[in-house]
Amino acid sequence: MADKSDVSPLCDHFNAQASTYERRLGGSPRRAISHALDLLPGLSSTRAPILLDNACGPGFATEAFLEAYPDAHVYAADVTPGMISLVDRLVASKGWNDRVKTDVMDGVNLHYPNDMFDASITNFGIFFFSDPDMGAREIFRTLKTGGKAIVTCWKDMTLLPILHAVQAIIKPGSVPIVLRGLDIWAQKETMEMTLKRGGFSFLEMHEQEVMWWNQGIDEAAKGLADNFVNMVGDQWSDEEKNGILGVTEQVLKDQGEKFIVESEGMIGFQMVAWIAVATKIP
Ligand SMILES: C[S@@+](CC[C@H](N)C(=O)[O-])C[C@H]1O[C@@H](n2cnc3c(N)ncnc32)[C@H](O)[C@@H]1O
Repeated sequence: MADKSDVSPLCDHFNAQASTYERRLGGSPRRAISHALDLLPGLSSTRAPILLDNACGPGFATEAFLEAYPDAHVYAADVTPGMISLVDRLVASKGWNDRVKTDVMDGVNLHYPNDMFDASITNFGIFFFSDPDMGAREIFRTLKTGGKAIVTCWKDMTLLPILHAVQAIIKPGSVPIVLRGLDIWAQKETMEMTLKRGGFSFLEMHEQEVMWWNQGIDEAAKGLADNFVNMVGDQWSDEEKNGILGVTEQVLKDQGEKFIVESEGMIGFQMVAWIAVATKIP
């Protein structure tokens, strides 16, 4: 079994919020996956491809892969049991039991053999790993020679300036929150160097807008507020955290023009992802 000591607090957080994950991210992970699939054209010529959905969350990539490749098999792994339960539910509802194997597994210690997968995707997962270099090595190791790995992270997140506007109301005068992990991964070199240290000598980086859409201000505020509560963590008191939802709603209503794109009644936030496509060359 993987040693969970480094990941258990994160695991708790994803476990507790697994069922609201899609709403909290305004559908953006699925949009990134759809762009990622377009970057794997060679896969369509592979018979019965075997794919890894690494740090799979609720299984959006698993679903997209199986729909795009009717003879594909997917291994879906995530360190959070709550997420794997969601994938199991999806698989049962679609009748995909013989096409998907799910595993509670740490991405830095995959229990799969070398050279197993024709392609793998780690969508918005690698920056959570306790050791992203080791995670990249595991992605490389488990990929077949010539196989492609898609690995994504965030380049620009509109939600950070919104958090700062909320912070200015709840904790006026405080230093704007910096999310160091996100800052580091926003730089293209972080992904490039991590994958190179993992063994990938050939990779392409794509910058891709991945809009975050919500049905209206209420849904958008709820999704943002859930994320903000996680982001401020123990730095804010319970009372301050309890105020986040109301203040986020207020910020979106009063200062919306700075942050929001509106289209057909939908509220959008502009998010940009890095999508790396790395090829295994021995
Ligand atoms: C932002 S979510 C992305 C989920 C999914 N890939 C998607 O496209 O929506 C990050 C996921 O990484 C998982 N995760 C975090 N640390 C992990 C680790 N060390 N090993 C495997 N999964 C991990 C979390 O449980 C969560 O499901």
